[in-house]
Parts: sequence; structure tokens; C-alpha cells
Amino acid sequence: MDDTLTATARTAQAHAYAPYSGFRVGAALECEDGTVYAGANLENASYGLTTCAERVALGAAVAEGKRHFRRLVVVSDIEPGASPCGACRQALAEFGLDLRVTAVGTAGPREWRLGDLLPDAFLPGDLAR
Ligand code: THU
Repeated sequence: MDDTLTATARTAQAHAYAPYSGFRVGAALECEDGTVYAGANLENASYGLTTCAERVALGAAVAEGKRHFRRLVVVSDIEPGASPCGACRQALAEFGLDLRVTAVGTAGPREWRLGDLLPDAFLPGDLAR
């Protein structure tokens, strides 16, 4: 567990725009170069347009040219902490399955390798096969 990443994710969580679900999520994505990008969930009156905190962080990182990621911390206020949804697992898998994912809730963290959260993932290389 990384306390700095968790603190960054908690700060982002405070900025979550979640007026419909009331379920606030923050994320911090650490790149291979040590930089960190934060995300918070972003809901919409057209509910299906909601973007999870994880994909907001991923988009922020990619928009600054980052493609290589080491760790993702996701924070929420449930126990155990929420792990990334299926859509976010797939979005993150685009950039590698070795990402270390940590979910922090109201008590202890849980940790996984992204590849273990998304077995038999469909990956960019599959398009060329
Ligand atoms: N949500 C996330 O941001 N990340 C997760 O890992 C789980 C779900 C958001 C989406 C929506 O705004 C709210 O939580 C309820 O699903």
C-alpha cells in the first residue's frame, strides 16, 4: 500500500461529482516515470454517460502522453473497498496487465494484479491475430 497514492485518491474523491448515486470514488494512477494522475467519478443526468474515477485518471494520464503505469489506488467509503468495474478493467488492460491495483475502503486495503482481475482479457494484440 502506498500512503501518498491513497492520499491523492482521497483528495480526488472529495471532488467526485456523484449527485445521483451519492457513491464517491477517487483514483490515483502512478506512471512508470513516477508521476501520478488523479480521477474522481463523473456522473451525468443522462446516467449512462457516467465515467468512473479510474477512467478519469487514465484519461488524464494519457492526455499528457503517459502510456506505462505501475499502480492504481481506488478509494471509496465502503468495506471492503470497491474494486474497478469491468469496463475500467478493460480500459486499463489496454496498457498492460501487470498494473498493481489496490482498493481502499473504510478499513484495510486489498491488492491484485490487473491480469488477475481480468482473466483472458481481449488485448490490442488480438486485433492482429
Ligand atoms: N464507480 C467508480 O467510479 N469506480 C468504481 O470502481 C465503481 C463505481 C462510480 C460510478 C458511479 O458514479 C458510482 O460509482 C456508482 O456506481
